[in-house]
Amino acid sequence: SFKLDMRIGLFDSGIGGFSVLKKVIELCPDNSFIYLADTARLPYGVKTTNEIKKIAEEISSWFNYQKIDAFLVACNTTNAIALDILKNNLDVPVFDLIGSVASTIKESRVGVLATPSTVKTKAYTNAILEFKPKTFVIEQPCPEFVPMIEMDNINSDEITDVATGYLQPLLKQKIHSLILGCSHYPLITPLLTEILPSGVKLIDPAESLSLKLKLFMDSKTNNFSKKKKLVDLKFYVTSNLKNFPQKAKHWLDVFPEVNLVSLQKKGWVS
Ligand code: DGL
Repeated sequence: SFKLDMRIGLFDSGIGGFSVLKKVIELCPDNSFIYLADTARLPYGVKTTNEIKKIAEEISSWFNYQKIDAFLVACNTTNAIALDILKNNLDVPVFDLIGSVASTIKESRVGVLATPSTVKTKAYTNAILEFKPKTFVIEQPCPEFVPMIEMDNINSDEITDVATGYLQPLLKQKIHSLILGCSHYPLITPLLTEILPSGVKLIDPAESLSLKLKLFMDSKTNNFSKKKKLVDLKFYVTSNLKNFPQKAKHWLDVFPEVNLVSLQKKGWVS
């Protein structure tokens, strides 16, 4: 008989966290995942610090009712602005993107693509410099990417032009690697790869996060009797319930159970 190891919670403003979920499932199957998409307030990336902090409070309160064993911050904007709030409010181990990837950066010239609110914090620059103080880091805000990716406008001349414009200042600075500092951006990896010179390495922070989670899981569970890889997925959205199963099908090839939830209401049942 098979038993899933853990209940893992993760969230994003929308479908961005799918890129994290995908990487995590590859490395850590045999778990049950609870994915919250705060679609009512998408996009997060142009919100103020106070707005993101309030969102982090609400999201962590909601997840405290979901009886999870571990939590993944699948949104860089919240990661950059309100990681401490999430960590303080949740009583389970919290795995974040920025903290996981920062120590793994080897290149001396690094570009970061992120939302305007993330770039304002300089969280990526600061986290990288903590480990390698001599690294040159250039951060580029990409306000147009998230709305385009959410609307599935990812194969157009329009997004190619937008992406080319965002990458230009970074390429001028001769970056050796490019961090995808918003979880929506790995969803347009084919487009970015096409524009980038072949010498520039693309870095998806979800890979480092998955590795950290795997180490943690290996220390907690025994995987000896596992033959099959099982995954259980549950999705929650704060609006647009009808569109979400199709999006999950498109990006993750699953038709999950999706529920509508209000984060403001208290007294949730799990
Ligand atoms: N995908 C999230 C991030 O990583 C939020 C993007 C947004 O809603 O603007 O920053």
